[in-house]
Amino acid sequence: VIAVTSMRRRDLLKLAAAAAAPSAWMRGTALAQPRLAADPFRLGVASAPAADGAVVLWTRLALDVEARIASVSGLAFGDYLAARDAAGGTAAGTTGADQPVRWELAADDNFRDIVRRGTATALAELGHSVHVELGGLEPRWYWYRFLLGDATSAVGRTRPGFAPGAAGGSPQRFRFALASCQHYEHGWFGAYRHMLADNPDAVVFVGDYVYEGGPRHNRMRPHPFPSARTLADYRLRHALYRLDADLQRMHAACPWIVTWDDHEVSNDYAGDVGEDPAVDGAARRAAAYQAYYEHMPLPAAALVARFSHVRIFRRIDIGSLASFAVLDDRQYRDRQACQPEGRGGSSTIDESCAARTEPQRRLLGREQMAWLDAELAAAARAGVRWNFIAQQTLFSPLARDGRPKRYWSDGWDGYPAERQRVLEALARHRPRNPVFLGGDVHSNYVCDVPDAIDGNDAASGPAVATEFCGTSISSPSGWSPERARRVAALNPHVRLVDVERRGYGLFDVTRQGLRASLRTVGDVRQPMPALDTLAMFDVADGRAGASRA
Ligand SMILES: [Fe+2]
Repeated sequence: VIAVTSMRRRDLLKLAAAAAAPSAWMRGTALAQPRLAADPFRLGVASAPAADGAVVLWTRLALDVEARIASVSGLAFGDYLAARDAAGGTAAGTTGADQPVRWELAADDNFRDIVRRGTATALAELGHSVHVELGGLEPRWYWYRFLLGDATSAVGRTRPGFAPGAAGGSPQRFRFALASCQHYEHGWFGAYRHMLADNPDAVVFVGDYVYEGGPRHNRMRPHPFPSARTLADYRLRHALYRLDADLQRMHAACPWIVTWDDHEVSNDYAGDVGEDPAVDGAARRAAAYQAYYEHMPLPAAALVARFSHVRIFRRIDIGSLASFAVLDDRQYRDRQACQPEGRGGSSTIDESCAARTEPQRRLLGREQMAWLDAELAAAARAGVRWNFIAQQTLFSPLARDGRPKRYWSDGWDGYPAERQRVLEALARHRPRNPVFLGGDVHSNYVCDVPDAIDGNDAASGPAVATEFCGTSISSPSGWSPERARRVAALNPHVRLVDVERRGYGLFDVTRQGLRASLRTVGDVRQPMPALDTLAMFDVADGRAGASRA
């Protein structure tokens, strides 16, 4: 108790970092273990690989989350605000004291061989989330669980990441799933049941983990509350999504490598400016970022400036077999080019928008671009075999039909100078087998990333990288198959486009090659949609570009 009281006086970021590092903090400290009326671990468990034999273990205590959701569900906006604050006791939507949560990491799923254990503090200030960061582990599977009072969490399974040179840290094969865009209102997350059966070593999630909007009444299961604005709102939103059993089971099955896109905050935001200047700004973003941190297995290193900035771009290595440069294309970007008067957000623009091609415009921002350049150089020096660039959206240029030439201002086509900087970094450092992974467009695109991108005219030149931009878990694309066919015909570097199907990508990586299986599901309004494989593509070591298997 004394430890918690004195810790409370310290800065929140130091608290979070300390809570995540059990060797330095609270290990074995005896706090009274409460008796609990309901299972506090109903939001599940999760983990993430980190560098050098490290993992991050996560849970968040759901002390009264369903009651909180139920108490505000379906209310009109004004009533919602009043009920939310009354139910929460505080505007931040969390009540109660900090809680000492015990955790165990074992070499077996029965926890007979426990290799580490300790106690972390679920801080009320951080929504009673728990982040445990462990290093110095072996290249193997581990199992973990959390305990509070007489409650025990579900068991999670995880594997640490390893630097390229680490002894024994490089597996012969690595299987991961690529997912994005799980819109609650449009369907169930049944795709995860099939993913679970595919038994990947990791999941790479590239954004739109939650959607921030209010209910739309023509949808399958409308969001039960208005558009999220405050920390309490975003906490409720994440909790609602995290109560999904399929999502929970997938998190428990293997570690996830996560980054965000726009809807974790608000549609098409850029920097700290969203679509509506009246409600979108730094405060809304900080609230959303805090809730995101509280619900994800992110390392304490993410917390650089309370929550006005959260650094989630990072590199995660799977020995010398694979490296993931995980990017953040939202937080540091310039505003979209040629926005309508008085508004933020994106639009379709045409050749008359000169700002689009201005060389100083940034999508990743100066610091992140410099970091990516350095990481690509380091990965090339270290001899990493497959260099994945996990980012948000379609990287390859996409010529659209019609005249004048039109561009979607939110994607890489809206920031061609920044795309050129990334291509130049690839050309300069020549990391082996660069592969772009993306989402956002709710469609499957397989592309041979071309070298010469001339003002987003039809791309030309040899492939310098391979791209798999994956479809959504449940969000619809809004494109007709006819439009997709017309656009594909204009873009010879696009090897496949499919706008109709939801699902995920499954990637089997060996030193010789990569096989990508585009897993698709049937009607996501069914809890268990049928599984299909739309296509399989192979990428051979040393040769950019995908070929149909
Ligand atoms: Fe999305």
